[in-house]
Amino acid sequence: MIRKSYFSREDIKMDIKIRSEKVSDYNSIANVNYEAFLGWHPDNHFVDEFILVDMLRHNSMFDPELSLVAEYDGKIVGHVLFSPFKFIIIGREQLGVALGPVAVMPEFQRKGIGSMLIEEGHRRAGEKGYGFSLLCGHVEYYPRFGYRTNMFSLSGTDVTINMDSFDNEGFADRPVNQKDIPWLMEAWIRQHGADALALYPGDNISEWSNHGLGCRCAVVSKNNRILGYARYVRSRIINIKELLANDEDMPELLAYLAWKEYGKAKGKMHIALSAEKLQASLGNTGSFEVDDSRTAHDAFMIKVLNQESPVAAYCEQVENGLLKPGILIYPAMFDAAESN
Ligand SMILES: CC(C)(COP(=O)(O)OP(=O)(O)OC[C@H]1O[C@@H](n2cnc3c(N)ncnc32)[C@H](O)[C@@H]1OP(=O)(O)O)[C@@H](O)C(=O)NCCC(=O)NCCS
Repeated sequence: MIRKSYFSREDIKMDIKIRSEKVSDYNSIANVNYEAFLGWHPDNHFVDEFILVDMLRHNSMFDPELSLVAEYDGKIVGHVLFSPFKFIIIGREQLGVALGPVAVMPEFQRKGIGSMLIEEGHRRAGEKGYGFSLLCGHVEYYPRFGYRTNMFSLSGTDVTINMDSFDNEGFADRPVNQKDIPWLMEAWIRQHGADALALYPGDNISEWSNHGLGCRCAVVSKNNRILGYARYVRSRIINIKELLANDEDMPELLAYLAWKEYGKAKGKMHIALSAEKLQASLGNTGSFEVDDSRTAHDAFMIKVLNQESPVAAYCEQVENGLLKPGILIYPAMFDAAESN
């Protein structure tokens, strides 16, 4: 077995080759991710990162040239994945990448391999025209690569529902399917097209459907008319990751989801949507109390890859308090880690 103490940082770096992944590397990449992240899950409940890599490979914009491996002596000892997505940044469509996971075999850590992978990924993504890279990660690690902290929020709004008059007659929910895509895309653009920051999930069913046991993606209808779409944590419907509806249908959609969770249209929900937007569609009927729970965290970071991209202005305005940090909804592929 190769021991860490055998090699100096510089010896290793000289002999490391960074290259794009190949299909024949999948097993080694899974092994590296498992080994590197096992320390994060000491009770071994579920190491999800290697599954996340597989799921992100079926993102319609997946690019194997942005899935990089570090090879040493013919063996893969590190891996980083940059996943391309379309975003809305200050109301304009932009291409960017999401970094993660990044993993280096434990005995090869702290020798500069993670840095080599990340820097090469930034170089390639920049060359391919992606304006920025974003991630959730260690604040001690990523700022050295130019990542700016507190750049977005994952939470949005806490809503308390109190709708005595709700009757569930005529309501139904079912799994999302391919025929829903035009409706979903239209609803998404209407809801997020002018956002400060939003990640566009794509126009394929695999990008809107659930990727694990933990979550469910459902279309809710009333008397066979679609009211909306919800992606929620299965065991806690009240934790809603994505919610799409026409303004006029939002109250009934929320009331139905609360009824499913609580057996009555009363209770609390956490929704990844801005308080302003929800308040506007829920109105002031007295049935909904809306509290802003948007909080940027130092782990939520963005690095600008192209200074011409509107993301540069976005980051500056968020830093200067001129713009509220955007609410980022990671797409369904990221739900591998969601537990029941
Ligand atoms: C994070 C990781 C990819 C870094 O790769 P690496 O090759 O060890 O990193 P580098 O050698 O380029 O950089 C090492 C520096 O990063 C910092 N660093 C490494 N891992 C870190 C961590 N988990 N937290 C904070 N800082 C870390 C240290 O400051 C270290 O510098 P030092 O050796 O002077 O103390 C690797 O440690 C790993 O696989 N960790 C487990 C999985 C993980 O945490 N992935 C990132 C999830 S956000």
